[in-house]
Amino acid sequence: MIVSPSFLAANFGHVAREIEMINESEADWLHLDIMDGVFVPNISFGFPVLEAIAKRTQKPLDVHLMTVNPEKYISRLAKLEVAIANVHYEACPHLNRVISEIHESGMNAAVTLNPSTPVCMLEDVIQDLDMVLLMTVNPGFGGQKFIEHSIDKVKALKELINRTGSKALIQVDGGVNAETAPRLAEAGVDVLVAGSFIFDNRYPKARIRDLKAL
Ligand code: DX5
Ligand code: ZN
Repeated sequence: MIVSPSFLAANFGHVAREIEMINESEADWLHLDIMDGVFVPNISFGFPVLEAIAKRTQKPLDVHLMTVNPEKYISRLAKLEVAIANVHYEACPHLNRVISEIHESGMNAAVTLNPSTPVCMLEDVIQDLDMVLLMTVNPGFGGQKFIEHSIDKVKALKELINRTGSKALIQVDGGVNAETAPRLAEAGVDVLVAGSFIFDNRYPKARIRDLKAL
């Protein structure tokens, strides 16, 4: 399993220490949630903080843009050598163009679906995607309850990927924990994002290891 700890749940009073923990852990990537208070009802952190994190971390950056007009930020993400730029389907009326811009900037392109957006909406872009992120809670906050219907969505996405021969990875984000993670793995998930399950635990590196083993 690919594991991408969500930095939103880190202790922001000790950012350097938290990044050090991630660097020393078996985490594959670092998941960074950018929120604008418009697309989602919360604001997290922006470019000044992202730049500081990018300088210190040794893991590839997996950036989840929860903003309107995410295309505005593509070139700035590329400058930070971000590995994966992830935009919401619901924020992009011209999704095909945004995906091309991400690829032209040298990054992997991922698209996120809110819990209320069906997998079939990706039918016409799935071949161009490196990853699809299925939100398993409504985006905006950490520590929320996993939405059960997500398991069926993972299976539907797996079917679409197999049918079209797409190489897209399946990522999930929200409410991933010891109970939900094995079921998500079983349903066909490739990448687990986890925030509170990792950072709110006394032994975060051990929790990362638990998810890696799935
Ligand atoms: C929520 C964010 C998540 C969040 C997950 O909008 O996209 O990445 O940090 O938090 P947990 O794992 O605590 O549900
Ligand atoms: Zn996220």
